[in-house]
Amino acid sequence: MGNNESKGLTLTEKIIKNHIIDGEMIKGTEIGLRIDQTLTQDATGTMAYLQFEAMGIDRVKTERSLAYIDHNTLQSGFENADDHRYIGSVAKKHGIYFSRPGNGICHQVHLERFGKPGKTLIGSDSHTPTGGGIGMLAMGAGGLDVAVAMGGGAYYITMPKVVKVNLTGKLNDWVSAKDVILKVLQIMSVKGGVGKVIEYCGEGVKSLSVPERATITNMGAELGATTSIFPSDETTLAFLKAQDREEDFVALSADPDAVYDEEINIDLSELVPMAACPHSPDNVKTVKEIGAIKIDQVCIGSCTNSSLQDMLKVAHILKGKTVHPDVSLSIAPGSKQVFNMLADCGALSILIGAGARILESACGPCIGMGQSPNSKGISLRTFNRNFLGRSGTKDGQIYLVSPETAAISALTGVFTDPRLAGDMPPYVMPEKFLINDNMVVPPASTEEAPNVEVLRGPNIKPFPVNVPLAEDIKAEVSLKVGDNITTDHIMPAGAKILPLRSNIPAISEYCFTVCDETFPTRAKELGKSIIVGGANYGQGSSREHAALAPLYLGVKAIICKSFARIHRQNLINNGILPLCFVDEADYDKIDRDDVLELPGIRNAIENGTEITVKNITKGTEYKVTCELSERGKGMMLAGGLLNYTKHNK
Ligand code: F3S
Repeated sequence: MGNNESKGLTLTEKIIKNHIIDGEMIKGTEIGLRIDQTLTQDATGTMAYLQFEAMGIDRVKTERSLAYIDHNTLQSGFENADDHRYIGSVAKKHGIYFSRPGNGICHQVHLERFGKPGKTLIGSDSHTPTGGGIGMLAMGAGGLDVAVAMGGGAYYITMPKVVKVNLTGKLNDWVSAKDVILKVLQIMSVKGGVGKVIEYCGEGVKSLSVPERATITNMGAELGATTSIFPSDETTLAFLKAQDREEDFVALSADPDAVYDEEINIDLSELVPMAACPHSPDNVKTVKEIGAIKIDQVCIGSCTNSSLQDMLKVAHILKGKTVHPDVSLSIAPGSKQVFNMLADCGALSILIGAGARILESACGPCIGMGQSPNSKGISLRTFNRNFLGRSGTKDGQIYLVSPETAAISALTGVFTDPRLAGDMPPYVMPEKFLINDNMVVPPASTEEAPNVEVLRGPNIKPFPVNVPLAEDIKAEVSLKVGDNITTDHIMPAGAKILPLRSNIPAISEYCFTVCDETFPTRAKELGKSIIVGGANYGQGSSREHAALAPLYLGVKAIICKSFARIHRQNLINNGILPLCFVDEADYDKIDRDDVLELPGIRNAIENGTEITVKNITKGTEYKVTCELSERGKGMMLAGGLLNYTKHNK
C-alpha cells in the first residue's frame, strides 16, 4: 500500500485491494485487476467479439458478461441487423448474456438488473462508470481489453489518485444530479480527472437516489477520470430491493481516516440549474447566465438521464401542457423497464399528450442516430456530450442540461431556468420496479455451445492486426491537428457511418474527415504515416475504431502534447506508438508532409531509452517520450495486445 500502509482506505482502494492480481497499490504505477463483469454495446461489440474469437477461448471466464444492442438500432440497410445477429450468436456460443435491441441502453439496463456493489466492471463504452452509482468500480475500456477480460485476463490501469468530492446539504427543487456533475465539470474541466477516481462522500450522498448517483458517475467520464464511485448504503439497498436483487447488496464506504489526494467540497443546497454550452461538456454556465435564447429542439434520454425518476419528473412537468410550436421534443426512456412502467402508470400517455415524440429505448440522437437538429439549430439535450458535429448537424449548437431544464424549456420555446416555473410538480417513485428480463437471452449451456453456429453476414470483416514494431520508422506527416481532438473527430459517428463498425476498410474512409476530407486517401497512398496532434488527443469515447481506422490506413505513430487515457491505451493495444513532445513548443516546428524519422525506435522502446525524432524535411530534431510499463513495452514490440496475448498465452 506504499506510504499509506497504516492509513485507512478509500472505497476505491478497498475494491482495488480485493481485485489486484498484478503490481502493487502504488499510485502512478500499472496494476492488473481481476474483472468480475464485462459489457459491450453493438458499436464496439462486434470488434470485441471478433477479437475474443481470435483468442481461441471457448467460454467467458467472468462472473457475468453482457452484450447489449443499443447504439445502431435504426435499420436502413442490412448492416446493423447483421451485426446484431453476429453478436447474438457469438454471445450464445461463448457464455455471454445478450440484451436484445429494444431492451434499453447498456448502462441503464446494467444498473437496473446486473450491477453489484463492490464488483469490478469494464465495458467497451466510455460511460461504463455509470455503474459507480451502485458502488462498482466500473471503467470504460477498449474492446480488446474487454475481450481479454472475458478470457480471464487482467485489466490494466494506472493505480489512480483518488479525489474526494464531499457533498453537503440537499438539492433544492428544480436542481438535480445533472447540475451536480456540471458543477464538478466546471471545477475540474474535461482534463481534470485524468489518472484519478472521483469518489463521492459526505452527508449529501444520502439524499441522492441510485439513478441520480449514476447520472453523476456517468458524466464523470467527461472529466477524463478513470471512473467515479458512490458508497453502497441504505439507498443502494432500497434500489436493489425494488429490483428484486436484495441479495446483491453489500454495504461499502471509505474508512473514516481514508487519505485522499485532492478534495472538493460542494454544498448541494447552493447549486442552481446549469448547462454545458457548445461545444464542450466543461463549458458550463448557469441557465440564468445564458438567458432566454430561442431553442429549436429538446432531446430527453441517453445513458445520463433516462431513468424512471427522470422520466416521471418530465411527465409531471408536461402534464396537461403542450410543447411549444417551434420546438421538437423527443424522449427516449432508458430501458424497457422504464418504458413499460411509464406505460403502466399513465405517464407515457401524458408525454404523448403533450406532444413529445417517443423514441425507442436506445442511444438514438446521442450518437447521431436520428433527430439531428436543423442547421444552426439550438438543441437542449439531457445527454453527456456536445462535441462539434456529434449530433449529426455540423453547425448544430448543443447545450447539455438537466431533465427539468429541458422539459420546462420545451414548453416555453426559450432557454428557461426551471425555477421560474413555480412549485415543482410532485411525483412518486414506486417501491417496486417491474421485473421482466425476457429481452435478455441467456447463453447456451456448455454442452449445447459447440453446436451453436456463429452467424456472419457480409458486413462482418476481419479486423486489422498490426505487425511487430520495426527497427526504424521513416514516414511522412499525413495530418496535423490541434488541441482536444476527440474520438468523434478521429472516427465520426452518425447514421451513415455507424453501420460500418464491423467493417474497418469501409469505415476508414471517414477517418478524420471532420478535420480534413482528404486524409483517408492521402494516408492510404502514403502506405505509412505519422499524425501530429496537440494536447488531450483522443478525448471522448472509448471508440476503438479511432485506433483501428488509423491502423488500417497505415498510421505508425501519433506525436502530440498529451493523450486522453482510454485512447492512448487503444493505440498501445493496436501497436500504434503514442509519443509525447518533451518540449511542447516543438509542435509548432512540424508541418504536414514533413518527413520524420525515428531511428532505432524498436531498441529505444525495448530499453526505455531516449527517443529522437528527426525532421528530414526541415533538418531539425525533437525529443519525445513514450512512457510504457513492461507489459506496454511488450505490446508495442509485438504490434499490439492481440499479438502479445497470443505470444504469452
Ligand atoms: Fe449511448 Fe450516448 Fe450513452 S451513445 S451509451 S446514450 S453516451
